Amino acid sequence: MMDQPLASRPGSMPRIDAAQLNADIEATAHFGGAGNGGVSRLTLTPEDKAVRDWFTACCLELGCNVGVDPIGNLFACYPGRNPALPAIMTGSHLDTQPGGGRYDGILGVLAGLAVLRALKSSGLVTEHPLTVVNWTNEEGSRFSPAMFGSGVHAGATALDEALAVRDHAGISVGQALEAIGYRGSHVDRQAPVAYVELHIEQGPVLEAEGIAIGAVTGVQGLRWFDVVIEGTESHAGSTPMANRRDALTAAARLILDVEAIGRAHAPGVLTVGHADTFPNSRNVVPGQVSLQIDMRHPSEAGLDAMEAALRQAVAGQADSRIERIWAKKPVAFDPACIEAVRQAAADCGLSCRDIASGAGHDAAHMATLAPTAMIFIPSRDGLSHNEREYSSPRQCADGAAVLLRTLLELDRRLA
Ligand code: GLV
Ligand code: MN
Ligand code: MN
Repeated sequence: MMDQPLASRPGSMPRIDAAQLNADIEATAHFGGAGNGGVSRLTLTPEDKAVRDWFTACCLELGCNVGVDPIGNLFACYPGRNPALPAIMTGSHLDTQPGGGRYDGILGVLAGLAVLRALKSSGLVTEHPLTVVNWTNEEGSRFSPAMFGSGVHAGATALDEALAVRDHAGISVGQALEAIGYRGSHVDRQAPVAYVELHIEQGPVLEAEGIAIGAVTGVQGLRWFDVVIEGTESHAGSTPMANRRDALTAAARLILDVEAIGRAHAPGVLTVGHADTFPNSRNVVPGQVSLQIDMRHPSEAGLDAMEAALRQAVAGQADSRIERIWAKKPVAFDPACIEAVRQAAADCGLSCRDIASGAGHDAAHMATLAPTAMIFIPSRDGLSHNEREYSSPRQCADGAAVLLRTLLELDRRLA
């Protein structure tokens, strides 16, 4: 089997059903659909339960064994010829940002499903089992940090710590998992022989260059910070301007500093994505502001330099404090897996270039467990984390075809 070319293996050559993949994208977009093409489906909400139930039913129908682990990761395992072999894994995430799109993460899970559908209808049986995974909380919007589903799976995050994280309403991850019935007991610590994730690019490069496929070389590093600025609440009518300690105007100055630091450290990027003002009332001078800051850079040295500048800027505001709540080093993917993606794109007759990922991905955790790579397809206008996020049905199907081809090639090479 090992040296048999793909085309001569038993069963016909499997093909992605582009119409079915598009129908699956449409179907999942209804769970948390915003009515304008976008999706708001925060992790572990009733909408997330609905899409998980849908995905589970599809996988069971295909003959998969479906397991849920204690952090809610959903593994759909499609048997291979040799049950003694570890799985080849693919997948991504079905949760979205608030006001998010219908492709970020979702495409990777549904393309995994499309691969299984293609195998089933062609009759081709891989040597390895194929597992399609839906990771819990990739987005990190409701619960911080992001990607703790794959983080727990890869041993980077302690399960107890992840279960104890609370959202803004005080609900813990453990409670949220119980509430939607996805606190499972499935534990599969056997590392896959390879992990490949298809994702939209979420940036402008592939579209600008008219290239169909990105062979992703790695993921830049990131650090998350919480900053609190203290002021004094006081009456907006009776407190003279000279007597104020306004936390919001101090925060505004800091936010401009943050932007300047980001610009000064290209290709690094720095964002204040969330601000809470207390007491958040028109006629009260703000007494406290909390900011959530996201920092990214391709190198650790770059992150260190940005962090030093950020700490200096925060120190420049009286009564302010900063805490680093999460850090993830830059990750380089496996050269042989990247080459398998390039080859698969060529075999599919698609243009391809190497590309680094600006966004974070569960694949960055998986890279510590198994040889890993990612496949990107273009994003219209480079937009993501936006309801207007879009990749055409053709682009999605091309990405899924490259995923299928990559997985089959890895199955052949690694058996
Ligand atoms: C995931 O969406 C990230 O923050 O990169
Ligand atoms: Mn994503
Ligand atoms: Mn995202």
